[in-house]
Amino acid sequence: MTPLLSLIARRKRLLGREEASTPRDILTLPLEAQDPQTGAGLSNTEVKANILTFIAAGHETTANALTWSLFLLSLSKEWQAILADEANTGLSGPVEDYTARLVATKAVIEEAMRLYPPAASMSRQAISPDDLAGKRIRKGTLVIVAQWILHRHRLLWEKPDCFDPRRFLPGSREKIDRFAYLPFGAGPRVCIGASFSIQEAVTILAHIMRSFSFELKKDHVVTPVQRITLRPKGGMPMILRRRDHYPASAQVARLYPGGRAASMS
Ligand code: HEM
Repeated sequence: MTPLLSLIARRKRLLGREEASTPRDILTLPLEAQDPQTGAGLSNTEVKANILTFIAAGHETTANALTWSLFLLSLSKEWQAILADEANTGLSGPVEDYTARLVATKAVIEEAMRLYPPAASMSRQAISPDDLAGKRIRKGTLVIVAQWILHRHRLLWEKPDCFDPRRFLPGSREKIDRFAYLPFGAGPRVCIGASFSIQEAVTILAHIMRSFSFELKKDHVVTPVQRITLRPKGGMPMILRRRDHYPASAQVARLYPGGRAASMS
């Protein structure tokens, strides 16, 4: 039995004992999931496949989104202060509400995924001849949609190479064309973990920002490389400093002319 299958068997035994201390985590939830129509549950192999997908498709992508967010924040003391302030007030209440409350944090992550999309390209093989924007596509041709190019296209974005999270703040975010920004893909194969990963990344980034300021290690040259996901070559060495005071809320108020209370609610 593989380690994951024996873990599943152990958890099933624990669930059978109905102890309150059984964790309600990504192992328990798929084991308890039932088809609403038939009441059928998932087999052990299906639970295993789902957990492996979570790890393979969801771990490194989100980790890279966070890494690139930290890199871009290291270039902007102003946005570090805005996020620290937002985290100081917004990290309370139910976790499900974080993305609605931590709007600047979410905007930074979305802007980071624009400039450094963790999935920098997607490919499809044409199953039959087609026409694509006036180009003849033969059956079997590999067609690549490169978020790396799309997200920095001069016809689609103003100052495309600049880090400006305001593009993703409420009021501007809605104006972005659905097909100009594809960090999670689109169509029938769109990422199933999109909402989960945004919630996860917002929660983690807000906790980091509340406690630390940071700067990139001196003389480190950041080079993106695509190894299935888009990673920084040689990592992202940072110098962390614990925050001993929180910045004034004025920074957040400046971003939302409508007033802080309204924008943060
Ligand atoms: C920032 C984090 C993430 C990014 C940038 C990302 C990106 C993507 C992209 C671009 C696709 C479409 C690929 C294509 O069309 O060829 C995709 C598909 C997928 N993602 Fe994610 N993903 C992320 C997080 C996650 C998480 C957390 C999970 C796990 C729950 C996940 C599971 C999947 C699965 C299963 C697919 C395939 C869907 C299908 O083919 O029907 N992803 N992801």
